[in-house]
Amino acid sequence: MAQTKRSTGHAISPDIVEATERLDEQHIFTTKTLGFLIHPNIITSLSSHDGPGDDTPGLKVADIGTGTGIWLLDVAKTYPSLCGQLVGFDVTFSSFPSPGELPSNITFNVQDMHHPFPESEIGTYDIVAVRFVSSATSRVEWESTAKNLVTLLKPGGWLQWIDSCNFSLYCSVPGTSRKACQEIWDGLEPYRLKGGDDLVIGLMMREGRAGVNREDIGKGLGLVEVHEDVFSSDRLQDGPPGLEIRKMGTKNVMECFVGCLESLFGAEDLAVNGWTRDKIKGLEKQAMEEIEKGVYHTLDQVCIIGRKATGPGSRTA
Ligand SMILES: C[S@@+](CC[C@H](N)C(=O)[O-])C[C@H]1O[C@@H](n2cnc3c(N)ncnc32)[C@H](O)[C@@H]1O
Repeated sequence: MAQTKRSTGHAISPDIVEATERLDEQHIFTTKTLGFLIHPNIITSLSSHDGPGDDTPGLKVADIGTGTGIWLLDVAKTYPSLCGQLVGFDVTFSSFPSPGELPSNITFNVQDMHHPFPESEIGTYDIVAVRFVSSATSRVEWESTAKNLVTLLKPGGWLQWIDSCNFSLYCSVPGTSRKACQEIWDGLEPYRLKGGDDLVIGLMMREGRAGVNREDIGKGLGLVEVHEDVFSSDRLQDGPPGLEIRKMGTKNVMECFVGCLESLFGAEDLAVNGWTRDKIKGLEKQAMEEIEKGVYHTLDQVCIIGRKATGPGSRTA
């Protein structure tokens, strides 16, 4: 997990190299919590005659910060008759599936979402989706990032932005310790308290810190039919052994936080706050034991959608 500096010179993203298994697992419980891959308003709009519609068969869909491409691959399977060309973009190819395994209508390209997209891509997409890129984008960059993504849309095309917030820890068994899980979560707090120019590490999408709110950003960019849905992961309950989706989700999110803490060793002097790599490893082990004994998390999954206005001059945001 290396730290990189983007050309802006901002305090910027830890280059968190995500474990592909963790991302694919995260997709399962995220999709179950939301209940959809593509927001139903978008499906209704693009299936009807007032969609962007042109002579191209199927919708052109972009997935930004695609990681393993798990969302895009699931979209292809779930909506075979709706899908035309599907393109995943990510700043690194490290998690891309191997091209030999892909259906011919799915491609993956290296692209930094903070930089302008190639001219050939501008104004060509019916749907631009972005999910879980909080740790890659400081609050002051949200607006310029969203603006850059909107350039990809055809008039009448939709932006879908999914992220999480409001993390909490609970017990399902009386007397269970949450200490290690809590300490890992609290360890990221110094990185949440910074100002608007800093990263939003750890599920902070809706908190109004620094007065930046993504729903307002969508409206400010001239998107129409802007809508925000919020779903609590608490709607997921563990089934019998083998179907313990809540436990799986809690372990997954704690692994994500441990990864953030480890990556911050490259970015900031965590040792100043008394952290060591051994301490993190020890806490991770204890946290997994706590989760086995009945500690679980909740968070809110937030989906914001907005449509690029149709009409003259709407090719770019
Ligand atoms: C938490 S993962 C989410 C992956 C995927 N969206 C999902 O939901 O499974 C964040 C992804 O954002 C990518 N990323 C980070 N910074 C980026 C940037 N500047 N431009 C494009 N992608 C970026 C990372 O490489 C990583 O694959």
